[in-house]
Amino acid sequence: MEKIGLFYSFASKKTAKIAGVVHNAFSGNDVQLINVDEVKKEKFLEFDNLIVGVPTWFDGELPNYWDELLPALEEIDFSNKRIAVFGLGDQKGYSENFCDAIGIMATFFEEKGALIVGKFPLEGYNFEGSKAVRNGQFVGLPLDQENQARLTNGRIEHWVEYLKKEFI
Ligand SMILES: Cc1cc2nc3c(=O)[nH]c(=O)nc-3n(C[C@H](O)[C@H](O)[C@H](O)COP(=O)(O)O)c2cc1C
Repeated sequence: MEKIGLFYSFASKKTAKIAGVVHNAFSGNDVQLINVDEVKKEKFLEFDNLIVGVPTWFDGELPNYWDELLPALEEIDFSNKRIAVFGLGDQKGYSENFCDAIGIMATFFEEKGALIVGKFPLEGYNFEGSKAVRNGQFVGLPLDQENQARLTNGRIEHWVEYLKKEFI
């Protein structure tokens, strides 16, 4: 497998903790952790396999640091790149917008030519609505530290097993 770039905000507390778990789940494989608070857009070109970590904020929106970075990424051609998205959200507190940011990010990168990998089944989640759902499944991995923290490690293990097959 080619090296993997894992992009997230190091200052985003829960997301940063989860990124560490995802990193460890790849064990022997080469995963580079990249802070989106400081990253230059060229960094995204260094990888054919990318993982993006994003919590949902503001009732179904991206956090500011991703919202500010995306315009710079508009110019990048992501075709031939495989991108997996994990997201943090709260299915009880924000049931109508559960992990919307996963869907927003997946759509953005897909429109830039990327192949989105790491889809995940809906079973075990309970929510009203989510932009992360497409064709009866999530387009990435939703994690809920508020309500289902004890399921997180198992979900990450399963997801990483899918990714090991889907990354190039
Ligand atoms: C003001 C606020 C708005 C939020 N909006 C949403 C939301 O729309 N959808 C959702 O699934 N979670 C929402 N959440 C929950 C966060 O995504 C969740 O707490 C996440 O774990 C935060 O991760 P972070 O610490 O890495 O930012 C919101 C939380 C706060 C405090």
